[in-house]
Amino acid sequence: MTVRGALRSRHPDGECGRDPSTEIRIAPMRRRHLRAVLRIENTSVHRPWSLGLFLNELGLKDTRFYVVAKAGSSPVSQPVVGYAGLLVLEADAHLTTISVDERWRRRGVGERLMWVLIHLARSRECEAVTLEVRESNHPAISMYRKFGFEVRGRRKNYYSDLGEDALVMWVTDIRATTYLERLERIEAGFASPTLTEGLEW
Ligand SMILES: CC(C)(COP(=O)(O)OP(=O)(O)OC[C@H]1O[C@@H](n2cnc3c(N)ncnc32)[C@H](O)[C@@H]1OP(=O)(O)O)[C@@H](O)C(=O)NCCC(=O)NCCS
Repeated sequence: MTVRGALRSRHPDGECGRDPSTEIRIAPMRRRHLRAVLRIENTSVHRPWSLGLFLNELGLKDTRFYVVAKAGSSPVSQPVVGYAGLLVLEADAHLTTISVDERWRRRGVGERLMWVLIHLARSRECEAVTLEVRESNHPAISMYRKFGFEVRGRRKNYYSDLGEDALVMWVTDIRATTYLERLERIEAGFASPTLTEGLEW
């Protein structure tokens, strides 16, 4: 499936790929991506996953869907600029991880990853998606709200080393027409091409 949209050029400092026509390509995560994934993971997340954990997740092919976002159209080099994962258990899907390279944030990469994973969840006949997020993680919470997630619970001291709770967020009825319309509105806001490769829905 190929999706054409447009990526907003919102990055403040003119670094890498500022050109608004930069393509973002979403593809299944493979072992060869893990070096780049771990580099982003280690600079983005308070308790980073290990290589072994990513490898284990990639091996669970029936229930896990991991994708990377790659930038640019060069056939030689398309750097990995973000990644995300979904655990599918019958009618519910669980967002297990999502991170974007610091240099690529606020340019629509995160929401493209979410957009693709929610389409994947819909195609697997999931009705709802859930996730946990640190309650101080306002950028992520704002993104999740954009996709219709609402806070439905709290895990006390979930991030015990930080003394912080996790908010449990859910979005339901993702197969409803009204939710598809929300996804279409989000897609309409993309400002450069988003391509997918090797993904079926
Ligand atoms: C959360 C994260 C993935 C967002 O990725 P991103 O590519 O920067 O996000 P996008 O540019 O696609 O923005 C999508 C929406 O997220 C929200 N958002 C993203 N960054 C934000 C910020 N700094 N402040 C407020 N809202 C923000 C906005 O609602 C935005 O929509 P808008 O542009 O219409 O305002 C990124 O900040 C990240 O990697 N954080 C570190 C890892 C992490 O916290 N992951 C979540 C774990 S639960």
